[in-house]
Amino acid sequence: MRPVVWITRQLVAPVMEAVAAEFDVITNETDVVMDGDTLVAASHACDAMLICHSELITAEVVARLSPRLKIIANYSVGVDHVDLAACQARGIVVTNTPDVLSDATAEISMLLLLGAARRAYEGDRMVRQGLWTTWGPTLMNGIQVTGKRLGIVGMGRVGQVLAKRARGFEMEIHYHNRRPVDDALVPGAVYHPTLQSLMQSVEMLSLNCPATPETERMMNAESLHWLPRGAVLVNAARGRLVDEDALIAALRSGHIAAAGLDCFVTEPGGNPAFAALDNVFLLPHLGSSTHETRFAMGQRALANLTAYFQGEPPRDRLV
Ligand code: DGY
Repeated sequence: MRPVVWITRQLVAPVMEAVAAEFDVITNETDVVMDGDTLVAASHACDAMLICHSELITAEVVARLSPRLKIIANYSVGVDHVDLAACQARGIVVTNTPDVLSDATAEISMLLLLGAARRAYEGDRMVRQGLWTTWGPTLMNGIQVTGKRLGIVGMGRVGQVLAKRARGFEMEIHYHNRRPVDDALVPGAVYHPTLQSLMQSVEMLSLNCPATPETERMMNAESLHWLPRGAVLVNAARGRLVDEDALIAALRSGHIAAAGLDCFVTEPGGNPAFAALDNVFLLPHLGSSTHETRFAMGQRALANLTAYFQGEPPRDRLV
């Protein structure tokens, strides 16, 4: 008998087909996010779950999961939605999909940076709404990205790709990370052992680190003022890294000139206060959303499931 895999969201068709070619599959036809009770009920009917970051696997949920469930394969690199310690304690294997989404997510970081600094939202709105009546030397002047000092918080895979792309814009790269990375991976980048030192040294800042208890609300009323007045901040990582009220206040006061946000504390929907600000460029968590990457993420999640059920160590096993 083939193991049963419950796929909690509608993934791109080739991924669904590839999983169904190897496993018996149960799908969530409605694509509505499955809450804790629904996940617990589903766990009695499957050996594995292929989940997205939209499904919250809290310790309370893990405690109620059926012993039949052996492995949770995440269709994401971030796993802040899964209580890993609780899974480990129950002997449930958890995997993620690193590497394959670094290019796509770095692209979105760059897009946020350019969109925020060059006022893409205001410009797009002006043309669409028929409000573009004249060209003028002072029309919608933005902040030039080329040659600026860019701070990257989190020099993991995404941060490293972003550094490479930003160098194409002749940006000077600074970063903060738990420890310095090999200089060959980020040639010429300046390491800052503290977040404060990084933020005081740059004009633009990109968040590319995981959400953990240590990084939660790392952007707050105090730290945002470590950035110089007129700085640009972008977040393609996780909303929880930011105290949104503090960022909104800094955007209103002009201390932060512009922000580009792909992630929010509350998803979907985001914080409506951002939508009321012209100096924010907003996206609905599109970091990894390219055809190529969403396919590659599926292949990686499937490879982890295949390895597990063949008795081999899954490549991306976290616990
Ligand atoms: C990730 O992989 O962490 C992306 O944010 C999509 O979930």
